[in-house]
Amino acid sequence: MDKLKITGKTALHGSINIPGAKNAALPIMVASLLSENGLLLKNLPVLQDISTMKLLLESFRIKIKHINSQTFFNSSNIKNHIANYDLVRKMRASILVLGPLIARFKRAKISLPGGCAIGTRPIDIHLTGLEKLGVTFSTENGFIFGEVKKNLVGAIINLSFPSVGATENIMMAASLAEGKTIITNAAREPEIEDLAKCLNNMGAKIAGAGTAQMRIEGVKSLIKTDHSIISDRIVAGTYVIAAIMLNNKFKISNIDPKLLSTPLKVLQNMGAKLDIGNDYITVLPSNTIKGTTLETKPYPGFPTDLQAQIMALMSIAKGQSQIKEKIFENRFMHVSELNRLGANITIKNDTAYIEGEQKLKGAQVMASDLRASVSLVLAGLCAEGETTINRVYHLDRGYEKIEEILGKCGCKITRIK
Ligand code: EPZ
Repeated sequence: MDKLKITGKTALHGSINIPGAKNAALPIMVASLLSENGLLLKNLPVLQDISTMKLLLESFRIKIKHINSQTFFNSSNIKNHIANYDLVRKMRASILVLGPLIARFKRAKISLPGGCAIGTRPIDIHLTGLEKLGVTFSTENGFIFGEVKKNLVGAIINLSFPSVGATENIMMAASLAEGKTIITNAAREPEIEDLAKCLNNMGAKIAGAGTAQMRIEGVKSLIKTDHSIISDRIVAGTYVIAAIMLNNKFKISNIDPKLLSTPLKVLQNMGAKLDIGNDYITVLPSNTIKGTTLETKPYPGFPTDLQAQIMALMSIAKGQSQIKEKIFENRFMHVSELNRLGANITIKNDTAYIEGEQKLKGAQVMASDLRASVSLVLAGLCAEGETTINRVYHLDRGYEKIEEILGKCGCKITRIK
């Protein structure tokens, strides 16, 4: 398994262009299942999860063709509607094929997604919503089987929690249902809006995406379209935090800062100096960064996907900080590893207590989930001496060639095969 070796205390200089968003690309790739007329996507990030999703879609006989920097998904001759265990267990987002397969083929059989490092991650909200549209489910031998006798029929669906995946699953299925669907307490993430924009360009009739109430008028079929994936706000936020930790001037380009308004406000209140443009954020050196208290929330609150990264920053900020993780029940796997690097963090129930101004020292550490891994990279860049991060396949799921990008910007970081 690959490792990353980092020599700390380097300077980060120059700029980075933010790639397409993994969490927009995954549901939008799945949307190609809804139409036999194909979908042309641009700005897909080059990530392990994207490759896994391509394999899953190809297992349904979707033909995928790369044309220059674009990717064409042709679902005209789908044969299979069974998602196999090996692919589903690799990536929880596989569950997103459930609604589209049933909407198109009246049935689907999917291996139940396992939990992962950040929690059990049930799918009850997905299933309840799809049942409201007329699907009946049964489970056996670790598979879930869903089918609808005739057609999906629009319904009023209130989500018990604004689940991102459940909102996406239901809105894709409802796009081909008979009649009107209203989803209340819907997730409001920008990636949901991007999915709705793509679906509407395919001929769907979705209104209210990005708000807590979405209205969907079902249509009979969808047409071919092309769509460019929005930039990845979490990758952008990660590099903003890296630049603040290294206290270097650094420009993060090709990102709409409005997608990060809450995290940027929190960072500025901590003392970060940011020059915020229409499509860039430039971090400027600042005198002091002081700790703060925050809790993770559904969008537009502070994103759980930046929790591990800001925790690394809090470890070297002035004073104490607290983070309450309200989205996942076990998203503190990075704490023990940050403490191995010299951080001083304790956990009590859903809250992490972080002592500031710690002198970080390089060590061997273990990546666990995608965002935990990158928080170890950030800490390693600021630590005295060498840090080795094991199991970087977690990192490769969401960060394109991070050692090349950071290496080009002055950091000493190499991959050991
Ligand atoms: C999406 O996961 C993202 N993944 C996650 O990013 C992100 O952390 C999460 O949304 C929250 O913003 C993708 O978009 C591919 P949820 P998702 O359904 O859809 C519980 C990353 O690092 N829940 O909003 O799985 C669930 O257990 C990843 O890129 C139920 O109880 O998240 C969790 O505690 C990590 N029942 C909470 O809701 C359900 O049916 C939020 O889950 C569904 C979810």
